[in-house]
This record gives sequence, structure tokens and C-alpha cells, in this order.
Amino acid sequence: MFLPSKLQSKLKKRIDNTSLRSLHQKNNLIDFSSNDYLGYASNEELFFKTHQFLLDRNLKINGATGSRLLTGNHELYTETESLLATFYKTESALIFNSGYDANIGFFSCVPQRDDIILYDEFVHASIRDGIQLSNAKAFKFKHNNIAHLEELLLKFSSKKTTLYVVTESVFSMDGDSPNLIEISNITTKHNALLIIDEAHAVGVFGNGLTPKLQLETTVFARIITFGKAFGCHGAAVLGSGALIKYLINFARSFIYTTGLSPHSIATILQTHLYYIESNTQKLHSNIHFFNKEIKRLDIASLFIQSNSAIHCCIISGNEKTKKVANKLHEKNFDVKPILSPTVSPGKERLRFCLHSYNSEQEITNVLENLSIFAH
Ligand SMILES: Cc1ncc(COP(=O)(O)O)c(C=O)c1O
Repeated sequence: MFLPSKLQSKLKKRIDNTSLRSLHQKNNLIDFSSNDYLGYASNEELFFKTHQFLLDRNLKINGATGSRLLTGNHELYTETESLLATFYKTESALIFNSGYDANIGFFSCVPQRDDIILYDEFVHASIRDGIQLSNAKAFKFKHNNIAHLEELLLKFSSKKTTLYVVTESVFSMDGDSPNLIEISNITTKHNALLIIDEAHAVGVFGNGLTPKLQLETTVFARIITFGKAFGCHGAAVLGSGALIKYLINFARSFIYTTGLSPHSIATILQTHLYYIESNTQKLHSNIHFFNKEIKRLDIASLFIQSNSAIHCCIISGNEKTKKVANKLHEKNFDVKPILSPTVSPGKERLRFCLHSYNSEQEITNVLENLSIFAH
């Protein structure tokens, strides 16, 4: 089949440095890789609750039929967004089709020409892509480095611009968290607006780290996603009513796309009604156990310190990282290698995602195998 030569050579480069991506079937290995931290994605009770709820409401509809601004804004949207606003302690919530859509929609239309965006160097690709689409100027600050952020805030805060600061409450590729209180304090001090992506925090830490730290009224906007701990699909931007009104008018990834189906919205609604923080107890006990085991096995220094569900073991080098992941696969463990260019060269890693349904025995077994293969 024909493929332009420039594209062929890009693929060849990927093959040459062992970073070619390909699709795999879902396997039956022990899950240390999915984002289904609480097991909600395969929770039958939730599936039947959602199904019954749709039947009770006589919502036998397969698709949204159009953009939410045209025919796609069915009745469940209002109900779900109002529930989300209460759950996440915000004035308003706006559902997007995915976290990717929420971030590109938000960042492409909120910061304006001559505004400045300061973003943590490790923020998710969807934030970077949104920033690329924006007319604002953007500068990255060193990962979780408050001093560097403040240096940049000082440099730009005298200018007559709106300053935006962007970070994640749990970093998707590292599992660590910034000091959100300090970040919030200095952004307030420099009149900057803070945006926090809580994709990997919500559900794992209740309604997210922003309300946990009582920052919900100081943060300008939050992005939350439902495809991780909530095990379904979609995302929302949380903020003031005025911000939500603006997004409905200007966020192109919100406007020019078919809305989520009633079934997807019903699932978001039901998972939030079903959720109680005690559902996370086993997950947190597994996180604690994992951290104890890496110390016992003397491999803690290979890991990025984390109290979230994501734990990363730096291996270094695409080939070696893939090799260790393959060896773990042979032992029945699904642990994903994260390669460059997704992370910077030299920082290639194995990313362990922990779940409420992992057993302590599975954790011990995978880490004992890792301690043999990683050295
Ligand atoms: C921090 C962060 N934000 C946004 C997204 C995108 O979310 P979604 O998978 O719903 O598109 C992800 C997904 O990997 C993420 O890790």
C-alpha cells in the first residue's frame, strides 16, 4: 500500500529506535497497567444499575444525534452536570467527550493572545496540544519546582497579561504530586490563574486533591476525567458559571462534535452515585503495601516516590525497558513499558498501576520478579 516516503521514513525511525507503537488485544494477564483503579469498568452491579436507570427513564436511545448545541443535549446532561458540581464542590461543570477533548478545548480558547501560560514540563500531551492551538505564549517550568515557577511568575507578572499556571494533581507518567498549596499560594500572590488536571486523582482521592486541600475556591479551573478511577468515559471542566458559559461558546472540541450518548452520561451519573470513599480502602492498602515491598526488596531507589495508584520504575533505554516488560509478561504480569519519546530519553520506565482488585501476593510476586530482571 502507498505511503508517502516522508511518512515511511518516520515509521522506520520508530522501528530503528524500538519505539514503534502497535495495537494489542486485551490480555488476561494480572492487571498492573489499566487505569481502572477501583475495578468500576468491569463492575456488573454498576452496569445493571445504569441499564435499569435508562429503562426506568424510558431512554432507549443509542446515540446523541448531534452536537450538544444542536440536538445532542439530552436531559441527562443537566442532571449529571449538576450532580458533578455538587460532588466536586464547584459552581459549574461542563461535560466533554474525553479528557483529551476537554484539555484541547479549554487551552485552545481560554488563554488569549499576549497571555502567558506557565506549565509543568511533565503535563499530559492533551494539555500540550491545547496549548499549541492557543494564541498565548507558553513556557514550561521544571517538574514540581516551585522556585522555578516563581522565577517565571516574577519575570512575567509585571506585564499587562493574564498569567495561567497549569499542573496536574497526580502526574500521569510519574504518579507523583506537586505541592498544590504552595503552587496555589504563589499563583494567588502573582495574580495568576491556576488550572489543575485531576485525571488520576479523582476517585483515588475522593473528589480530588483540590477540594481535599480546600483549594476549590482559589483554583480557576479543574479538568477531571471519567475513564480512569470511574471506569467509564468522558470528562468535565469544573469552574465558575461564567467560565462554563464561555467554553460553551468558544471551545471548539465541545462545539464541533457529537455529544456523548445517553448511555455514557447515565454511566457517569451512576458511578458518581455509587461511589463512596470507602471503595478506595483496598486500593490505598495496596499502595501502602507496594511501597513497603519495594523497600523490603531494596528497589525503592529505582522508583519515583508516589502515594498515588501510579508507580514508576526507571529502567532507562527503550530496548531494556521493553525487555524487562516482556519478561514480566512471560511471568503473567501486565506492566506497560513507557518509552521515549513519550518520556525523555534516559527516563524510560515501567509504569505500575495499582488497583483495588490486585492481591498482596500479586504485588509481591511482580516486584520479586522485577528485582531480578531490573538489575
Ligand atoms: C493527566 C491526563 N489528562 C487528560 C487525559 C485524557 O483523558 P481521556 O483519556 O479521557 O481523553 C489523560 C489520559 O491519559 C491524562 O492522563
